[in-house]
Amino acid sequence: MKKSKILFLLLLISPGFVILPGCSSNREPGRTYMPDMQYSRAYQAYAPNNLKQDGVNYKNWPVEGTIRRGDLFPYTLPNDSTGYRLSAQVKNPLPPLTPAQAKEAERLFNINCAICHGEKMDAQGPLSAGGKVPAVANLTLKQYVDMPEGTMFHSVTYGKGNMGSYAPQLTREERWMIVSYVKSKQLAEAGAAAPAAATSGTSTGTK
Ligand code: HEC
Repeated sequence: MKKSKILFLLLLISPGFVILPGCSSNREPGRTYMPDMQYSRAYQAYAPNNLKQDGVNYKNWPVEGTIRRGDLFPYTLPNDSTGYRLSAQVKNPLPPLTPAQAKEAERLFNINCAICHGEKMDAQGPLSAGGKVPAVANLTLKQYVDMPEGTMFHSVTYGKGNMGSYAPQLTREERWMIVSYVKSKQLAEAGAAAPAAATSGTSTGTK
């Protein structure tokens, strides 16, 4: 008998009971008694902030001098016109992709790149066809079919024109895998038909 009285008292003073009145009207959000639970303090992707260089949580580069476990060594060419020119000589460090890796590279391309470049790499992705991102490179054009893998890696790493950097989102290995995939798809398409004549791609300047 005594025990159940104590239990009843405990229930009365428990926080669960205290916040119950907050639920009486579903038009009122109730009282916030633990603000850190209610409002996330985490940095949201693409949300504005005053900490990062761009003011947006986008180019969140890995800490300088660190290498992610299992990743390739850092890419050392600088993000300037000299680095861009020299990147043509950088060789893809990966051996030819296994069928499983090629499938993974295609998946990564379709997630990260096809939104602009299109699954067929003809610059007909939803963002570019819808006009949201102008001047997307049509990777089926000769200038991109001839583009060295190192230059592709450089541009995907640092970004170029309206394309952002993919260094924060994709590991170096994943970026090289995607470059291999782009090259093999370009070669397959070039073998099947002459490159498309559409010119939605530009390649002006470097970044
Ligand atoms: C937001 C749209 C967008 C996304 C997403 C995007 N790109 Fe691009 N990409 C562009 C634009 C725009 C250009 C043309 C840049 C220029 O030359 O001004 C471009 C250019 C390129 C080039 C040519 C670079 C050069 O040096 O001229 C390559 C290669 C490329 N993209 C590959 C990729 C890959 C691989 C991905 C995915 C990891 C990707 N892009 C994701 C918009 C995008």
